[in-house]
Amino acid sequence: MEKVLLYKGKSKSVYAGENINTCILEYRDSATAGNGAKKAELDGKGALNAEISSILYQYLEKYGIETHFIKKLDDTRILAKRVDIINVEVIVRNKAAGSFSKKYGVPEGTALKNTVVEFCLKSDELGDPMMNESQITALGIASQEDLEILKNRSLRINSLLSSLFDKCGITLVDFKLEFGMYDGRIILADEISPDSCRFWDKATGKKLDKDRFRRDLGDVLDAYREVLRRLKNAQQV
Ligand code: TMP
Repeated sequence: MEKVLLYKGKSKSVYAGENINTCILEYRDSATAGNGAKKAELDGKGALNAEISSILYQYLEKYGIETHFIKKLDDTRILAKRVDIINVEVIVRNKAAGSFSKKYGVPEGTALKNTVVEFCLKSDELGDPMMNESQITALGIASQEDLEILKNRSLRINSLLSSLFDKCGITLVDFKLEFGMYDGRIILADEISPDSCRFWDKATGKKLDKDRFRRDLGDVLDAYREVLRRLKNAQQV
């Protein structure tokens, strides 16, 4: 069957599935940072992220979170439900890091008195600007009711993932989620991987995520492989 490209993102391509309700996500080796300012090909990243994301989505499904994941097709491709993406990214933070630390002048690793949930407009041209709820509802990007679902769902996903990563000896510092509409329901879409999360080793504080690429720390894929190894071990216990 001829592949029909629906969308090419910075690290994934989305192809039409065999029927209108499905699509095929292909994880590529491309790595970008600074909204595309820095680019590289990291040989094997696509396969690592496809496997890590598949494990996490199956884990979340087990706990009642509906995701777009249907099945893994091969090393880098996943069959998924075809959703209409909601144009906001949801960022969840358990500790200060990254843009939060920079913007508010707090050292990375600072404890937070509550979990932070942020919304950003999904727009590469505008650099994914942060949006508050009234801005999102004013532009009709999502309703207040949908925003409540996004917040509650993201916090539940945070509890589930934090406890899984705890078993892996990893602190889930922060992460980004994307949701979509499928058959009238909001479901989790996109990916959860070291590209979209901050993972810190609990014992050493070592970064095991894309900050190794963003900040030129080296051994990027060794870190991704370590996350996968620990997730596989945690699944066996
Ligand atoms: P930030 O500290 O740069 O705002 O990022 C917070 C988390 O969200 C971090 O784990 C990286 C992830 N993220 C993405 O995956 N894609 C994005 O476009 C942004 C802005 C953040």
